[in-house]
Amino acid sequence: MNRAETAQKIPVGLLGATGAVGQRFVERLVDHPWFELAAVAASDRSRGKSYAEAARWRLTSPLPERGGAMTVAGVTDELPCAIVFSALDAATAREIEPLCARRGMLVFSNASAYRMDADVPLLIPETNADALGLVARQQRERGWKGAIITNANCSTIFLAIALAPLDRAFGVEKVFVTTMQAVSGAGYPGVPSLDILGNVIPDIPEEGAKIEREVAKILGKTGGGAFTISAMTYRVAVEDGHTESVSAGFSRRASVSEVESAWSEFRGSAEVAALPSAPKRPIHYLSEPQRPQPRRDVDAERGMATLVGGLKPCALLDWKFTVLGHNTIRGAAGASVLNAEYAAVKGLLD
Ligand SMILES: NC(=O)c1ccc[n+]([C@@H]2O[C@H](COP(=O)([O-])OP(=O)(O)OC[C@H]3O[C@@H](n4cnc5c(N)ncnc54)[C@H](OP(=O)(O)O)[C@@H]3O)[C@@H](O)[C@H]2O)c1
Repeated sequence: MNRAETAQKIPVGLLGATGAVGQRFVERLVDHPWFELAAVAASDRSRGKSYAEAARWRLTSPLPERGGAMTVAGVTDELPCAIVFSALDAATAREIEPLCARRGMLVFSNASAYRMDADVPLLIPETNADALGLVARQQRERGWKGAIITNANCSTIFLAIALAPLDRAFGVEKVFVTTMQAVSGAGYPGVPSLDILGNVIPDIPEEGAKIEREVAKILGKTGGGAFTISAMTYRVAVEDGHTESVSAGFSRRASVSEVESAWSEFRGSAEVAALPSAPKRPIHYLSEPQRPQPRRDVDAERGMATLVGGLKPCALLDWKFTVLGHNTIRGAAGASVLNAEYAAVKGLLD
């Protein structure tokens, strides 16, 4: 199917529309070539208000007029669409997302509630497109007409994208990652300013464990074998963009030029590369010193690129490098919209 040639846009709903990720969804959905934002939903605090009143818009782009005028629904309301994007917190998502799937909706979720279920895709179209095949199993086993399709934790997505071509070429066996995560990653109002200004807060609750298990699932390393990953996480006073310091060990030796080429040449399938939200190059390798940096690089490819740089030999594992990505775009709303576009070309939305 060539969606671009179909006249009718697909109506979509948005759960958790008022939050940090929800706002990014609104920004990306109002002018989407295939999807029409038909409903926005949030908590009882917001229900019945106009979106402009409920959302406290915090993005630098202006609040789209049409989005601002929409009335916020409740998340249990019947919404006029067969597809919903979910930017709910995990506890609410655990209850609401299956309700939607039972009603026959496809739910594209940012929440962690169902990511690790064996029959739930944890999808990055450029790296593990086959995971979408789990939808049929999920519908069969759970008796749902709809399904839940998840994207990973924000730090996981950039790391998995950076590791995928290295794994294909050299076999990744060991990973040690330390994250420096932006405050927008904690939602709104998020971390109190008196805690984060001029400060670094270690050990973001549950984040390290999510990265460890989700990277293993995306790279197909959950069946045993030689793969070990250890993650430490930190909140830093950066507005947008998670930076990650990575050391990786491979099963086969790789030269600096081989590693650089693996990143620079990495592409999804032609079908994925043609999707409206797909970056032209999923990975941008920056060879200049002291890059990537959140302030300078995080908006590359409308926030959909994963940036890698600072490649050096590692005395403990084989190679060390820095990874950066936009946490609310490639790490959340943009990733979810890309997943829905991929589901559309695979015929799941017909
Ligand atoms: N921020 C990131 O960088 C990022 C990246 C990847 C994944 N995620 C995940 O995405 C999800 C949303 O994160 P966020 O940062 O956008 O959080 P947030 O700013 O706190 O927004 C939460 C949203 O959920 C709604 N909500 C909260 N409690 C609810 C309830 N009981 N019933 C119905 N709706 C409720 C809120 O509505 P009200 O405004 O009405 O309260 C708001 O729309 C989380 O699961 C998070 O882990 C976030």
